[in-house]
Amino acid sequence: LRKVSLFDSLTDEQLEHVLRIAQRRSLSTGTVLFHEKDPGSIFYVVLSGSIKLYTRSASGEEKILSVVAAGDSFGELALLDGRPRSASAQTLETTLVLEIVNDAFMNLLEAHFDITRGILAELSRRLRQTNEHVNDLTFLDDRTRVLKNLILLANQHGKRDGMFIYIHIPLNYDELAQMAGVSKSVLSDVLRELESRGVLQFGLNEYKLNLAKLRN
Ligand code: CMP
Repeated sequence: LRKVSLFDSLTDEQLEHVLRIAQRRSLSTGTVLFHEKDPGSIFYVVLSGSIKLYTRSASGEEKILSVVAAGDSFGELALLDGRPRSASAQTLETTLVLEIVNDAFMNLLEAHFDITRGILAELSRRLRQTNEHVNDLTFLDDRTRVLKNLILLANQHGKRDGMFIYIHIPLNYDELAQMAGVSKSVLSDVLRELESRGVLQFGLNEYKLNLAKLRN
């Protein structure tokens, strides 16, 4: 629980209290925690693994809004405004979450202003990120969108080792393309081009960015 930045300011005793009011749940790959438009009464903290948050268009196409991993939290919106879930949530691999039900979540917010501030900071961060994404979709060309999406994933999920950033992310090409807002064929063209220039190497669920080459 110490990895969860939202709970940074809590003492060991307070963390134990959080563990007592929360429910641990282990989920296998592909488990849907909830669907968009469902009523929602649970706040989630990711302890390990990863989960995609996505919406679907009327024609059934998926758009991934974000991938959350260890230390991240989600599902606060339906609790805060009492409206249905704004997105669906599905595990990308074996995942361990902590579930906190509505009343316990509200009590935590009331008792610890640092947690409330953390939630507000996270909401602010997402709004900024969404604004940037709208700009990117409006003004950037396809290739730059793919590159920016890789950099976003590197910032959120990458591990730096010297000049390299290793991104472990169990997303397939369709999902990566939806996230960047490009077609699958554009995505594979750009990935291949980046690979041929030595900027990127990729294998199953694993991307390796070369920062030195990226700057050129
Ligand atoms: P809720 O609407 O309860 O359920 C879906 C959750 O996905 C939502 O709460 C947020 O926690 C999260 N979410 C929704 N939109 C975004 C976004 N644009 N970026 C990151 N997370 C989001």
